[in-house]
Amino acid sequence: MAVIVGGIATTHVPAIGKAIAEKKHNDPYWKPFFKGFDYVHYWLARTKPDVAVVFYNDHGLNFFLDKLPTFAVGAAMEYRSEDEGWGIPVSRPIPGDPALSWHLINTLVADEFDVTMCQDMLIDHAVTIPMALIWRGPASSAKSWPVKIVPIEINTVQHPLPTLARCLKLGRSIGRAIETYEQNLRVVMVGTGGLSHQLDGTRAGFINKEFDELCLEKIVTEPEALTRYSIHDWVEQSGSQGVEFLNWMAMRGALTGRVSELNRNYHIPISNTAAATVVYDNQKESERKAA
Ligand code: DHB
Ligand code: FE
Repeated sequence: MAVIVGGIATTHVPAIGKAIAEKKHNDPYWKPFFKGFDYVHYWLARTKPDVAVVFYNDHGLNFFLDKLPTFAVGAAMEYRSEDEGWGIPVSRPIPGDPALSWHLINTLVADEFDVTMCQDMLIDHAVTIPMALIWRGPASSAKSWPVKIVPIEINTVQHPLPTLARCLKLGRSIGRAIETYEQNLRVVMVGTGGLSHQLDGTRAGFINKEFDELCLEKIVTEPEALTRYSIHDWVEQSGSQGVEFLNWMAMRGALTGRVSELNRNYHIPISNTAAATVVYDNQKESERKAA
């Protein structure tokens, strides 16, 4: 049976791609951010996942405002990226796991999530930057990262957006689907984007540390407590792009066991964002009893 080894969430600012390409890891601006990945790398070396399910929002590379699904699931053999115009290296292609994708899609539709199914899907910086941070190496390198991915897009761009509760439930459906998948796969859940940030309008540059800290506390053991915020409240508290936290909620929902925070790094600013990186353990009930 497949197991969910845990969850990782991190910001996806494009400027990180340039910093990686230029090896700025020890530059004073970047060091406090990149240091947050030492634990991620240590943890991955121990947990060795085969597949990453990546919850992210597309920023106009694959979907545009004319056709924008609330939820879309990749079911491709391979995911390519393209130049999005940020001046960062274009990522290497990342292999998919179509059999797992279809299992997730079947479960989601049975659970009444009518998702868009994508057998061809470009992935943007919201997937490729976290991959380069989590599994290391410039995104443009010819080497492959040691995991396959199932990218799951959540609309955080064009209102109306799905609620926090809906994204938590989407994650739960995926968590249950993975637990019933018969292949012996080790799966890590990844959520990208956030935390508080706003790129446009009169509040451009807005960051709310107090609210970010509340989110980082609540999401671990009480994610439901965050569902009382409407999307309107969220924009007010976290900025118009702070809604990328929906990807974090879905990641958290997919952790079906007892969840604890193994590591947290929070740093202001990276470009316009409050940048956070977390690692969550997901311990199954049966493993706890045996321990
Ligand atoms: C930035 C943040 C984002 O979430 C994004 O998608 C692009 C840019 C930024 O802070 O520069
Ligand atoms: Fe973004």
